[in-house]
Amino acid sequence: MDFYSEISPYYDKITRIGYMNYSKVYNDLKKLIKGKKILELGVGTGNLTKLLTKGGFDVTGIEVSKPMFKIAKKRLAGTKVKLFLKDIINFKKKENFDTIISHASIFVVIKSKEGLVIESYITNKRNIKRALENIYNSLKEEGIFIFDFYPEHNPSKRGFKFGKYKYWFEIKQNKGMWDFIKINHIQKGDKIIATSKIHKIRLSRKEFENISLRIGFKSMKTRFGKYIILEK
Ligand SMILES: C[S@@+](CC[C@H](N)C(=O)[O-])C[C@H]1O[C@@H](n2cnc3c(N)ncnc32)[C@H](O)[C@@H]1O
Repeated sequence: MDFYSEISPYYDKITRIGYMNYSKVYNDLKKLIKGKKILELGVGTGNLTKLLTKGGFDVTGIEVSKPMFKIAKKRLAGTKVKLFLKDIINFKKKENFDTIISHASIFVVIKSKEGLVIESYITNKRNIKRALENIYNSLKEEGIFIFDFYPEHNPSKRGFKFGKYKYWFEIKQNKGMWDFIKINHIQKGDKIIATSKIHKIRLSRKEFENISLRIGFKSMKTRFGKYIILEK
């Protein structure tokens, strides 16, 4: 599942060209987070994690990609963050966290032409259910799971420039519009120097909500038009 291995050295450069505004995300999240004990899923290179720990939260983070994990480990050295190289599909900590966060990660909401859909790195429904069960079981009673909206992918070969490099991506349908591959490229001059292929699937918001409610979550709500909250 190491779809970020080639791209990881460029990840922070890409996010800095306007892809992510971590301080803004942190300020939003502060208004939504319950309690102090947080689990962050798919920490990536640890940018948001760093703001959460600096803000005084007791943070545990998991990340499935080894190269991303290594960068996060370096970034978070000397902090109190507990970091695990782990897939959420296999992660359980019984009733341990007040809030679980996934930012631009395991699940994102997309305002697509077909309406609101949930897009996931987890590419089959059985494992999506398993991940949601692990999230549910790791939350304390009345805990919450927060994940975010993401812009609809708009592939363009023009891409985004950063220094000598360019980042662009293409989307290839796999099994219809609900199952596709996002291929990220880093280019230097005319040469592609790194590529990552990420298989993703989409579920309608309704289907995702139904799975969550069947697991036991009380409700699924949208906040600030940018975040989804599942309440235990
Ligand atoms: C787009 S990055 C976002 C990283 C970070 N949250 C941020 O805001 O910069 C998505 C991350 O989720 C991780 N990821 C995807 N599926 C995962 C899973 N099942 N368990 C843990 N991490 C996962 C990927 O390896 C990747 O580092």
